[in-house]
Amino acid sequence: MDTAPTNPSPAGPVTAVIVVAAGSGQRLGYGMPKAKVPLGGDSILTHALRGVAAAGVAQQICVAIPPGDSELHALCDEFTHELAALHRRTAASSHGVQAPVVTVVDGGASRADSVRAAMAALLPAVDSVLVHDAARALAPESVFHRVVAALGAGAAAVIPVIPVVDTVKTVEATTGDGVAVAPELVTGTAPREFLRAVQTPQGFALDTLKRAHEAAAGFDAGRAALVTDDAMLVELLGIPVHAVRGASQSLKITTPLDLILAEGLLEGPLGARWVEG
Ligand code: CTP
Ligand code: MG
Repeated sequence: MDTAPTNPSPAGPVTAVIVVAAGSGQRLGYGMPKAKVPLGGDSILTHALRGVAAAGVAQQICVAIPPGDSELHALCDEFTHELAALHRRTAASSHGVQAPVVTVVDGGASRADSVRAAMAALLPAVDSVLVHDAARALAPESVFHRVVAALGAGAAAVIPVIPVVDTVKTVEATTGDGVAVAPELVTGTAPREFLRAVQTPQGFALDTLKRAHEAAAGFDAGRAALVTDDAMLVELLGIPVHAVRGASQSLKITTPLDLILAEGLLEGPLGARWVEG
């Protein structure tokens, strides 16, 4: 970690960062929960937690891990000690500012369930929350800062986004009798100018995120499976979701190729956070 946590003053908003790390990592196919997978000599989760700490925006870091995973629990304990030791060496500690509290909870069957489990364990004083995928282990501090700045300016929901580089089309499965010439038929082309790829950390006023997840708790399995981020639940409430610039190194480590890219970023000339500010 090259930047000490600054852990903002208790007089301002009290911010928690929820790190969801309870997934199984099926698409990565590493044979273990994705949070444990090695990346540049440490685990994906350790990188993600160090990135959160380095951003210095959280009074609480709440991590959702696969239920009963003692190895990941131990890894979070190690991170807590690392954070405390680092904090003791900063000016903030001599001014009475506390190191962020680290809380570990059992995640749920879906990502949204893991977010809900973490929300239930937030400190009573927390009033704004960032939800971050452990799988976006190399998200740079600047993105956390842009999200927190928009929350501070009055947004109830804010997401980091990047422009889409590919042309994106909608398709449907080819139907009809006879032999299909191809498996799918194009039904339209979305105007790329207005498309954005969405990343984490996503920031919310806590009451907004709570309302959004309460509404989603009653979804049937089919609808719940379509929930891939928190902002879409806020959109369903009709609350504006604002967007700030994300970063390409915030890529979600999903497939083996993503892991190779993340390794490459870590080995870059200036380390993990060199690509963009
Ligand atoms: N996640 C979670 N709880 C779940 C499912 C996902 O906390 N029940 C977290 C993952 O740990 C990850 C983030 O949500 O940090 C984004 O999910 P994804 O990239 O899909 O990770 P996995 O679900 O682990 O991967 P896969 O879908 O390939 O199994
Ligand atoms: Mg998943």
